[in-house]
Amino acid sequence: MVKRLMARKPLETILEEAKGDNRLRRVLGPWALTSLGIGCVIGTGIFVLTGIAAHDKAGPALMLSYAVAGVACVFAALCYAEFASMVPVAGSAFTYAYATVGELFAWIIGWDLILEYTVASATVAHGWSKYFQDFIGIFHLHVPKVLSNAPFDFDPAIGKLIPTGTWVDFPAIVVALLVTIILVKGIKESATFNNAMVILKVAVVLFVIVVGAFYVDPKNWIPFAPYGWTGISMFGHTVLGQSGEGGLPLGMLAGAGVIFFAYIGFDSVSTHAEEAKNPQRDVPIGIMASLVICTALYIAVTAVITGMVPYNKISVEAPVSNAFAQVGLPWAQFLISLAAVAGITSVLLVLMLSQPRVMLAMARDGLVPKSFFGAVHEKFRTPWKSTILTGCLVATMGALIPLRVLAELVNIGTLLAFVIVCIAVMIMRKTHPDAVRPFHCPWVPVIPILGVLMCSMLMFALPKENWIRLFVWLFIGLLIYFFYGRKHSELHKRNMSGLEAAQEEVKAQYEDR
Ligand code: ALA
Repeated sequence: MVKRLMARKPLETILEEAKGDNRLRRVLGPWALTSLGIGCVIGTGIFVLTGIAAHDKAGPALMLSYAVAGVACVFAALCYAEFASMVPVAGSAFTYAYATVGELFAWIIGWDLILEYTVASATVAHGWSKYFQDFIGIFHLHVPKVLSNAPFDFDPAIGKLIPTGTWVDFPAIVVALLVTIILVKGIKESATFNNAMVILKVAVVLFVIVVGAFYVDPKNWIPFAPYGWTGISMFGHTVLGQSGEGGLPLGMLAGAGVIFFAYIGFDSVSTHAEEAKNPQRDVPIGIMASLVICTALYIAVTAVITGMVPYNKISVEAPVSNAFAQVGLPWAQFLISLAAVAGITSVLLVLMLSQPRVMLAMARDGLVPKSFFGAVHEKFRTPWKSTILTGCLVATMGALIPLRVLAELVNIGTLLAFVIVCIAVMIMRKTHPDAVRPFHCPWVPVIPILGVLMCSMLMFALPKENWIRLFVWLFIGLLIYFFYGRKHSELHKRNMSGLEAAQEEVKAQYEDR
């Protein structure tokens, strides 16, 4: 039994399968991959969550929060890059875990990635809706109140959900469905669309930094860390630093736990390995380049915003455009809301592009139904059925569940995935010391260990509700695994018929083509 759960998928089989049928088109180069990374990274995190985190958790020290979260991501990214170069097929961390730590962990990580991509997409759809409403508000247009937000929200002051007096977030539904249509049509078109939006949003982020710098008053940076420098709790009990209602962690690290969301997505570059022209070289470049560029931009934007406005006056809804309105530059609101809408759209595009590819990898291994999740469209060569399902789930969650709740849940799930990837790199070095590694994570085991420590620290900087939600999510996932995935696992079937039979199967795939 334990042997079954720990069954590993041979690296050679993964690479063989990547040559079989149901392949995706290889159209992405290093620029396109970096652009997909940036496209997926700069969005709701910097444009919306910066306000909540600076105002409620960290103050101006949020600059350091971005640095801490960025460093944690660099460690995880180096591990991701090593795997992405070794196993350049769709599926990201799921595939890596299958090759190293076994089927059960692979399932956990795949299930976790659903949390990351689908729930993050719903969060982002909400953020899009906020800036979209901000933007049309400039022209005195308004979405009817009942269709403008999720029906309830989390109030950190009382630690409870409160009704908002609305029914659904209708703009979030519309954007999720539009993005789904674009994605079903094809990856090449999607990458072009993404590039255009990435250019627009990076230009506006640079505008915020350069123009905003003239309005910085260094007095606003004092006190620098009004909530302290830490903010670590264990299931509601404060371990380090200040805490709010119900043991809610406060401080610079607690800020990092929230704005970690702003970095989510760089790893999605690795889910496109199978569509990369030269995955061994380009995927590590794409991951590292997008991460370094975004960290620099985030720290600069946060320095400017907290320098323009006292931290306790920063807007929690639209902090970036509002800071310019507060210093007497309302025209900048137009530019910034427009870029935020475009920027957040491209985040949604890449996140929703990644999810069906993880499902595709899981379907190939029989862990989820192949006929549905493994189906690639004859003409468009996209995993169309699961793309449509993802779109419907994102629209529903984006319409009904509040932004803060979704964002924190995504963070804890993604951090767990990063921890597993860092551990898997160390295991892989032991079990496959001679495997070809076009990209080597430097200083193993120091970097992976630091990755595990920093990501775990950020998990403990999140409120206890997130741990509970994470456990519930994993429990549901395990039920599905034990009642479906384990029974249908290709690896299981192959083990029963022996490794030779597996190799026969791969060969047969070639002969059929
Ligand atoms: N990092 C992405 C964002 O901030 C998910 O929107």
